Amino acid sequence: MDNRIRSQELRKKIMSPKEASQFIKDGMTVGTSGFTPAGYPKAVPLALADRANGGEKIKINLITGASVGEELDGELAKAGVIKRRYPYQTNNDMRNGINSGEIKFSDIHLSHMPRWIKYGFFGNIDVAVIEAVAVNVDGSIIPSTSIGCNNALVDKADKVIIEVNTSQPIELEGIHDIYDIKNPPYTQPIPLTGVEQKIGVPYIKCPLDKIAAIVVTDIKDNTRSVAPIDQDSKKMAALIVEFIVQESKKGRIPEKLLPLQSGVGSVANAILGGLEETDFQDLEIYSEVLQDSVFDLIDAGKIKFASGTSLTISPERLESFYKNLHKYREKIILRSEEISNNPEIIRRLGVIAMNTAIEFDIYGNVNSTNIQGSRMMNGIGGSGDFARNAYLSIFMTKSTAKGGDISSIVPFVKHVDHTEHDVHVVVTEQGLADLRGLSPKERAEVIIENCVHPKFKDKLRKYIESADKNSKYKHTPHNFEEAFKG
Ligand code: COA
Repeated sequence: MDNRIRSQELRKKIMSPKEASQFIKDGMTVGTSGFTPAGYPKAVPLALADRANGGEKIKINLITGASVGEELDGELAKAGVIKRRYPYQTNNDMRNGINSGEIKFSDIHLSHMPRWIKYGFFGNIDVAVIEAVAVNVDGSIIPSTSIGCNNALVDKADKVIIEVNTSQPIELEGIHDIYDIKNPPYTQPIPLTGVEQKIGVPYIKCPLDKIAAIVVTDIKDNTRSVAPIDQDSKKMAALIVEFIVQESKKGRIPEKLLPLQSGVGSVANAILGGLEETDFQDLEIYSEVLQDSVFDLIDAGKIKFASGTSLTISPERLESFYKNLHKYREKIILRSEEISNNPEIIRRLGVIAMNTAIEFDIYGNVNSTNIQGSRMMNGIGGSGDFARNAYLSIFMTKSTAKGGDISSIVPFVKHVDHTEHDVHVVVTEQGLADLRGLSPKERAEVIIENCVHPKFKDKLRKYIESADKNSKYKHTPHNFEEAFKG
């Protein structure tokens, strides 16, 4: 344990998860590490859930980097511990609590989170619970498989509980790069001009007297298996890869390509898999989550460097990841989410952003969060950070949902996350629509022609014809009564 908790003074602060959880009291705002089911605390949240399940009245506001694993979001939601939740989640019990109105959820751009914590927009942060691979003599923390908001939370929290997780390899030390952005009016340009560049330090500064407790655990990141890639995802991936190849041939994307960002999931995996087959070399990833497909590309010798804020490795790939960590370390870097999702950097590097939509409309507005306009799914996550600032912003979704009963392309999305201005290309398994430079009516034409399932094409064509005929204004003609019917 000496190589993990690096001073006698610190080792005196080791206690059980139950004892450490006593620092968390009813009504507090608690911030934790975690970004996807990676690098989140497990033992202290489980102890907290036990307290609530044992009859203690305890409700907290919970802030994390993004979604987290079952031991945190799932168990606390089930135990009724969560009063408010920021900024993103993917957990079924949490989602049900949000949609039933029991949990107040605020869906926030991930790049805003560390800033807002530092601005004090969430009020006082009472306790931060941070998973670490080690703690240095001076109290500084070596994070584990994600960074997210860790540095901002540690900076602002009154007390810090550190979960030293021995299931996380100590060899992760050194892959993190923590850079401190000062609040306005003292903010300076971020000196990051290349994906591989290190601009900070490999630990989170934390004064010794802030560390209230250290808990030792070996509960593993509860990651999910990668879903098999279905035919529709393969088609979308092939369309996107071919589009990128053609753009490069036309000289509109540099020959060596630009850094790529892709959301999590099977389409993202299929796209990166598809790029393996192309002539592109020395690929760069500037994204949030580095998942299995990134490591497959490293193995294939295709990746020059990959930067993210989280390492989400499926259980099937974990063993080979650990075995090859010495090799991967040379090619990856984890940053805090205020850097991985930073608009200034995304714009400067010219990132190609690829994200999944729930639905989009004939004019190119995208709904990523609210099913049928009011059932919260996950949240906007980092999609807005990337889409708004990308060199190329691509959104994909299957052309139909609910077994083919619903068209994912509609006259007007019932909830807007990404406006037409931030959406350059849309893709379904039916085809791809390049919207750049088109007027709204031209966009509608190419979207209906290329992306809509044949079953719904006539209906949408009729909608736009009748809206155009009956509307006084011909720029973005609509018939709202018709658009929101059903
Ligand atoms: N109309 C109605 N319901 C729809 C729909 C549509 N057009 N499209 C999807 N749905 C429903 C599905 O039926 C499913 O419902 P269920 O939970 O009742 O089964 C649900 O929405 C999720 O659909 P699914 O296809 O399984 O989603 P996914 O796993 O591919 O995720 C998003 C899609 C958009 C929810 C997900 O990518 C997301 O949360 N995006 C926002 C954040 C983001 O982009 N993050 C990455 C940025 S770095």
